[in-house]
Amino acid sequence: MFLEMESISKSFPGVKALDNVALRAGRGEIHAVVGENGAGKSTLMNILAGALQKDSGVIRIDGREVDIPDTLAARTLGIGVIYQNLNMIPDLNVFENLHLSEFRTRGGRLDKRAMADAARERLRDLGADVDPNARLGSLSIADRQMVAIARAITPETRILIMDEPTSTLTPREVESFFAVVRGLKERGVSLIFISHHLEEVFSITERVTVLRDGRLVGDWDTAAMTEEQLVAAMAGRPVVELFPKVEVPPGAVAMEVRGLSSPGRFSDVGFTVRAGEILGIGGLVGAGRTEILKTIFGELPKSGGEIRIGGRPTVIDSPKRAVELGLSYIPEDRAGEGLIVSANLIDNIMLPRLRRFLRGGRLDSRALRRESVRLSDRLGVKAAGVDVKAANLSGGNQQKVAVAKWFGTEPRVLLLDEPTRGIDVGAKAEIYKLLGEMAGQGVAIVMVSSELPELLAISDRIVVICRGRKAAEFDRAGATAESVMLAATGGGGK
Ligand SMILES: Nc1ncnc2c1ncn2[C@@H]1O[C@H](COP(=O)(O)OP(=O)(O)OP(=O)(O)O)[C@@H](O)[C@H]1O
Ligand SMILES: [Mg+2]
Repeated sequence: MFLEMESISKSFPGVKALDNVALRAGRGEIHAVVGENGAGKSTLMNILAGALQKDSGVIRIDGREVDIPDTLAARTLGIGVIYQNLNMIPDLNVFENLHLSEFRTRGGRLDKRAMADAARERLRDLGADVDPNARLGSLSIADRQMVAIARAITPETRILIMDEPTSTLTPREVESFFAVVRGLKERGVSLIFISHHLEEVFSITERVTVLRDGRLVGDWDTAAMTEEQLVAAMAGRPVVELFPKVEVPPGAVAMEVRGLSSPGRFSDVGFTVRAGEILGIGGLVGAGRTEILKTIFGELPKSGGEIRIGGRPTVIDSPKRAVELGLSYIPEDRAGEGLIVSANLIDNIMLPRLRRFLRGGRLDSRALRRESVRLSDRLGVKAAGVDVKAANLSGGNQQKVAVAKWFGTEPRVLLLDEPTRGIDVGAKAEIYKLLGEMAGQGVAIVMVSSELPELLAISDRIVVICRGRKAAEFDRAGATAESVMLAATGGGGK
């Protein structure tokens, strides 16, 4: 075996993140590591990447035991990483980000020219058309992803770790990313691929290692597994219903959006959503869906159009005003906008509702704790307790906390942007049930989702956005994967 990680254990205060875990991958093999949120995937990969130190265990590459005390040592061994949270600096330009860990100097000065040239070459090798001098923050998420890949891969790379690399890519971008991955495989690079998208695991990987609660469940040839078997191995039980849908008779129109426009972002978008209804917003990443939600919520200015809430025209010029009118919004970028990572889970989950826990001028901290435990249990947040900082949670568990904090609220309209991204299948099903319960209580839900199966299974109606315009609208019975995809890519009629 080219890469062998044996008997790896790692503890954090209060959590045994890895307990005697093994991972074995051959040269030129594409190897999936899957498991529920908090199973230990990122921890295992961070150890291989030198970003974390194991408590015990052995790592061998090409038969030789290796020591990986830091990320530089990993690089020297030919180990590249694309981190789950991209880990780049938006205010630096592309080539600076590319060379973060390997600045080039010339006579004691940074050799910017050489860095930009090297960056251009590496991006071109990947087939990415990105200007090395552009500010990273000005690029689309997909282009930033390409920069992250280019940064991870050098000619010396023998092992490439990819921690949920595709979660923000469009289907076409995923295809070109996979082409890059296959090219690296041909070069003999061993690729480790972490993903909650099981269809991707089946389409590109040859072997799969399953972790659960910090332990190894097993490893198999991917082709020898069915999706049901893989999900059951991850969850430790068969998951019967992946997309529970609660049928709710729709009530009165809760929100009506007419001719909504924002220059350069989207134009003339209109739809209605009723109390008890889940309106899905489909489309490709970058089509303008996030901007539409942000505009409705008063975070971005509109240049035209009208938003009626409960039949009344409104002026929503700030998120504060939106909340007063009964809107709630769960943003896409949850680590950045949806969470206070330095605060604990109680504070994060209860923040929108603190006022309701005031008793005679003081916060009822026992009630706060009880309610936050209830919500985090309901979503299956894996943490040592509700006192831990959000920063110490696994990526998917952070997402769950950011979603949980809105489930206790009773908005008139709930706006959700990719509510289940990065969340494991079992917890997804729980989120769908919670959405169904909120709909049952009369909440109108608008859900942006790039995941077609979710969009089709959970929505009562679907509006598809293509390049900033409404391309189609389907009712539940009329929507199919093909019709939605066709509209999203610009091939559908109105
Ligand atoms: N720095 C840390 N301090 C404390 N606990 C941590 C830290 N990093 C991870 N953990 C805990 O270790 C466990 C494994 O986390 P890890 O990030 O490896 O999970 P994961 O499988 O990558 O999950 P996800 O699918 O959500 O990304 C979790 O219980 C997590 O809360
Ligand atoms: Mg992770």
